[in-house]
Amino acid sequence: MKFKKNILCIGAGYVGGPSMAMIAHKCPDYRVTVVDINKARIDAWNSAELPVYEPGLDAIIKKTRGKNLFFAKDIENQIQENDIIFVSVNTPTKTFGAGAGKAADLQFLEKTARQILEHSQSPKIVIEKSTLPVKTALAMERILASAKGKITFDVLSNPEFMAEGSAMTDLENPDRVLIGSRETQSGLTARAQLVDIYARWIPAEKIITSNIWSSELSKLVANAFLAQRVSSINSISALCEKTDADISEVARAVGMDGRIGSKFLKASIGFGGSCFKKDILNLVYLCSYYGLQEVADYWESVIKINEYQQDRFMANILGNMFNTLAGKKICILGFAFKADTGDTRESPAVYITRKLLAEHAEVVISDPKALKNAAIDLAHDEGKISYIEDPYRAASGCHALAILTDWELYKKLDFQKIYKSMIKPAFIFDGRNFIDHKKCFDIGFNVYPIGKPALSRFEDQPSV
Ligand code: NAD
Ligand code: UGA
Repeated sequence: MKFKKNILCIGAGYVGGPSMAMIAHKCPDYRVTVVDINKARIDAWNSAELPVYEPGLDAIIKKTRGKNLFFAKDIENQIQENDIIFVSVNTPTKTFGAGAGKAADLQFLEKTARQILEHSQSPKIVIEKSTLPVKTALAMERILASAKGKITFDVLSNPEFMAEGSAMTDLENPDRVLIGSRETQSGLTARAQLVDIYARWIPAEKIITSNIWSSELSKLVANAFLAQRVSSINSISALCEKTDADISEVARAVGMDGRIGSKFLKASIGFGGSCFKKDILNLVYLCSYYGLQEVADYWESVIKINEYQQDRFMANILGNMFNTLAGKKICILGFAFKADTGDTRESPAVYITRKLLAEHAEVVISDPKALKNAAIDLAHDEGKISYIEDPYRAASGCHALAILTDWELYKKLDFQKIYKSMIKPAFIFDGRNFIDHKKCFDIGFNVYPIGKPALSRFEDQPSV
């Protein structure tokens, strides 16, 4: 069959896989191919057990895979055969050299650009889908321009705004699609081609265009603003705990102001995920690089509050469990960084588990989708760790439950049954304010939410 357009995506991760599946689903007359240097990942995309858990993804993959969606390993051939190339490779925080700990590590992006250059035999549109520091397109253009005029490349920026756990609905019905380009004739023509793809299913008013630098920067800023809201509400949760105010009531009252809005005001153990921290650090680095130290400090404080929130949670566990956890069994309910994903990258659960192990506690980890990743994350940690998917079995014989992920199933647990199987006094530390605290207190638990008065049978924390 002859396809109208041939689209390639380099990078078959959490973004490349789902976003290309959506394009293939919405554009059956386009051929979409996804490649990756990680061959095992490509095998997994071609198998019954996809490498990414995302509600709704399986169904779309089943409909499109082998028809107009392909996961392939022959990167060089695919570069030759496709004219529109999305780049969706990882851009983690740099761990070495200048800017270590803050700047983005662009080695994967640069390698991809060089591969595109080496194997292209016709003009290409190259689309940055990865999240990148502002001005990366300039580097990309310079690498691609070394073809010495034989072949032309147009670089576009099309950052992805989907969130994990809701990727398929976000991709199907996004708040907006952003496309940045050079404002040259050829840049604008390339931009129009990309607009055409999204226009297949997204209303025209939601497809916005801008200059390429605004597009690159907007992505970092959007993530920084979202994370800032979480840190803002979490900072106030600390004040609530000192004053008997209730963070859920404060968030409702504040969020009902239409100018503020109600989303992203859920106090929690802190934000996790592969992007918020790395993207804010990247923004901080950029601000320092341009000599804007005050601006850098302002955004860095969002991360500091996030770390503070996790430390506070841990201090609460330790303080309320009589200042010793040695030999005690703590059950972690939820290891993923949020519900509906198996992703554990930068999950607060990793940090909390390590802190618990450092106190010589025994940790039992339960999660419906993230146990495999949890075991990889903690493979080199010393201490007693076990992985038990069934929350009832996991909690049995434990001294405390720490709820770290907002999995819907935890709301429906039979806490009476769980209480019976635990060591007394039994504790719940709810890092998501997710379960019915009063009900659990009435069952017999001592309950410690975030930003709300504790429901405890002990008047004061003992001191040592
Ligand atoms: P990921 O690590 O899951 O996937 C990236 C893939 O790129 C990996 O499988 C890796 O093997 C592959 N890769 C690296 N170099 C390659 C090369 N030279 N050739 C072929 N493949 C190569 O990462 P992700 O979560 O999909 O994120 C990708 C980008 O999208 C990042 O910049 C991230 O910030 C951004 N982003 C992520 C999300 C999210 O929810 N995860 C959302 C929006 C934007
Ligand atoms: C986030 C953004 O929401 C996406 O728009 C963006 O595309 C993506 O980052 C990215 O660039 O990677 P994601 O990290 O998948 O998506 O998930 P979010 O829903 O944003 O949650 C991030 C963290 O904040 C989670 O740990 C979540 O539990 C926490 N959170 C979120 C709260 O603690 N409180 C809230 O009110 C909202």
